[in-house]
Amino acid sequence: MNHRIVLVCALLFLGIGASRAGDLTAKQQLGSAIFFDRSLSLNGNQGCVSCHTPNTGWSGDIAKFNAHGATYEGSVKHRFSNRKPPTAAYATTSPVLHYDKNEELFLGGNFWDGRATGEKLGNPAADQAQAPFLNHVEQALPESACVVYKVCHANYPVSLDQVWPGACKIHWPADVKTTCKTEGAVVTLSAAERAKADKAYADIALAIAAFEESPVVNAFTSKYDYYLAGRVQLSRTELHGMQLFKDKGKCDACHPMDPGRHGEPPLFTDYSYDNLGVPRNPQNPWYNMPKQFNPAGRKWVDKGLGAYLETRAEYTQFARANYGKHKVPTVRNVDKRPSHDFVKAYMHNGYFKTLKGLVHFYNTRDVKPACKNPLATEAEALAQQCWPAAEITDNVNSEELGDLKLSEDEEDAIVAFMKTLSDGYVPPKGTTPLAPGMRRY
Ligand code: HEC
Ligand code: HEC
Repeated sequence: MNHRIVLVCALLFLGIGASRAGDLTAKQQLGSAIFFDRSLSLNGNQGCVSCHTPNTGWSGDIAKFNAHGATYEGSVKHRFSNRKPPTAAYATTSPVLHYDKNEELFLGGNFWDGRATGEKLGNPAADQAQAPFLNHVEQALPESACVVYKVCHANYPVSLDQVWPGACKIHWPADVKTTCKTEGAVVTLSAAERAKADKAYADIALAIAAFEESPVVNAFTSKYDYYLAGRVQLSRTELHGMQLFKDKGKCDACHPMDPGRHGEPPLFTDYSYDNLGVPRNPQNPWYNMPKQFNPAGRKWVDKGLGAYLETRAEYTQFARANYGKHKVPTVRNVDKRPSHDFVKAYMHNGYFKTLKGLVHFYNTRDVKPACKNPLATEAEALAQQCWPAAEITDNVNSEELGDLKLSEDEEDAIVAFMKTLSDGYVPPKGTTPLAPGMRRY
């Protein structure tokens, strides 16, 4: 090997191989760069990270949004979307959306309503990653070739071309920059160039999904993981909460908490769908979005999975039975927040602001009277000892929640247990740290 080749190899190793970026593969490093790149939006001000930050467990870090409507503003000012950003962690482990004939229910997919099925790119998280760039109320780029153009011209430590050689060999028209600053515009490309751009757009999504699958995002480093690995003890309250999460609270029925058959770490979701009877979030700014985005205005109701199934000929027969159902989110990281008093929002519409209020809802939804004001907030409902009606009354699950007969101490213990699920736990001195990433217990 001559010196030049040695040098090139060393550079390739630094750039592409698992290196400084914490053992990430080249594809994962590329995905990371794309995920954090705020220039990938119409106004150069929004990236995936704008709504999914590490310090909140990959959900949103804008407390003033979380405290009210809980949906996030897009690249274009005053444009808000309709749902709360869920965590982007532990999304890659969701199977492709499918109907399970034995269980007679839908499983898998990404998004609250499963519409990022995974049927296109083989992984729901990859299908998902193609959506926000082009969503008018999110990153709002006019079309997919613009994302490709920007990624191909970005200065990332690992480029798209390094991971997929030739991916950026696309003949761009002279006016591409102007086109990509214009909503509704389409980059002029021949069929052959368009095919290359489409392939590169798929590669971009696959790189993002690879990053989301990496130990940086799917970390499995919570106190509970340390406990499962036998490295720390849980407190008495946490242990009590752990038990209640499984039996009296029935949480484990949808948020499985035990390692898998081969010791796989628990994901705290079974990727099924349910209507918990969550009230409307009256502060959701989506209700006031212009007709071009929300034709239904204040009358909009979130039919969740059912609405998506209506768009699929083979699934329309199942639509009604799935109105109001949303995907079971992982409860890993639900308490992860940048500071003690930082407000987070929970459920698809962010109605709940506290884990305590949320557990109290599971516990007493069917016991307390309906609030006189159907648009009462969580704080108002707690103060008035009532719950507002469900946003959608069809298909509400009354078998596993609604009247759990938990005492206040028991509610608190469940909350204490959920607080052990935040990644990045710092163990007591002398404890061997857990290496982040997929493991077996
Ligand atoms: C403006 C805020 C915003 C931006 C920007 C954004 N997201 Fe999201 N993200 C959301 C919201 C809201 C949802 C839920 C939408 C729904 O279910 O309809 C979501 C859902 C997701 C999910 C699904 C999680 C699951 O378990 O189903 C993943 C993964 C994700 N986003 C990753 C990304 C990636 C990757 C990007 C960048 C390409 C991105 N997001 C950009 C707000 C945002
Ligand atoms: C029947 C299935 C089911 C059971 C039982 C269940 N959950 Fe859930 N959980 C869900 C679904 C579905 C959602 C999302 C619902 C929505 O957004 O409308 C959810 C959402 C949550 C969230 C919000 C997460 C987020 O990111 O917004 C938390 C926290 C949670 N559950 C904790 C619990 C606890 C604690 C228990 C037990 C007391 C429990 N769950 C029992 C299905 C279930």
